[in-house]
Amino acid sequence: MSYEATFRVWRGDADGGELTDFQVEVNDGEVVLDVVHRIQATQAPDLAVRWNCKAGKCGSCSAEINGRPRLMCMTRMSTLPAGETVTITPMRTFPVLRDLVTNVGFNYQKAREIPAFIPPQGVKPGEYRMQQEDVNRSQEFRKCIECFLCQDTCHVVRDHEENKPAFAGPRFLMRIAELDMHPLDAAADSGLDRKKTAQEEHGLGYCNITKCCTEVCPEGIKITDNALIPLKERAVDRKYDPLVWLGNKIGLRRG
Ligand code: SF4
Ligand code: SF4
Ligand code: FES
Repeated sequence: MSYEATFRVWRGDADGGELTDFQVEVNDGEVVLDVVHRIQATQAPDLAVRWNCKAGKCGSCSAEINGRPRLMCMTRMSTLPAGETVTITPMRTFPVLRDLVTNVGFNYQKAREIPAFIPPQGVKPGEYRMQQEDVNRSQEFRKCIECFLCQDTCHVVRDHEENKPAFAGPRFLMRIAELDMHPLDAAADSGLDRKKTAQEEHGLGYCNITKCCTEVCPEGIKITDNALIPLKERAVDRKYDPLVWLGNKIGLRRG
């Protein structure tokens, strides 16, 4: 069965743009990306849209569908309100390049600012041993497809360009949490305190655990409960740990 739908698609570039209506055919079983491709094929060949796998795995087709950050390839037309206009806009948190394509370079910059896993001294790859629960924790975070929908939805940076330099966003605070909780990460041995950098360099304190990031994650990662809250707890423990306090005091006196 097929029917006609109205799609309202944002078209423009960094200088501005507007919503443009398209009447377009929709067939049973289609997802939003199929319909956007039909618009491209039949009515607007220059419509810019980023996609790759069409299977919810590459994280390229992120956009806002009826105002909600979603993957276009994983949003079935049958889940949207029947007979209503479908509005598609680019992710709002990142600068528009053209039409539905944004410049997500902010995320790559943040990724570069986080030091990688530091292997333990004297243990070769292949000799690493971890408890299964530690493996499971890392694996949950490693399901991330870098769609940046969590970054897009986070109110700390959405509409707050001024917060971007100081805030890494949920995806990258989750990365710090993963490494900080990793039993083999030897950052501390080389003088790197990941909890401290999360607080002082990556804006952990800006997060007020609203869980909006978790709600939009297409991989169902419990970003807030399993990464952000534990990282906050660990950072607070560090701050109020009497030994850390004493060490800081001594350090201050020495200074
Ligand atoms: S829980 Fe924190 S990181 Fe996630 S959307 Fe809310 S403020 Fe942003
Ligand atoms: S954590 Fe989830 S929402 Fe955020 S970038 Fe990864 S897959 Fe996307
Ligand atoms: S096209 Fe790869 S996630 Fe949608």
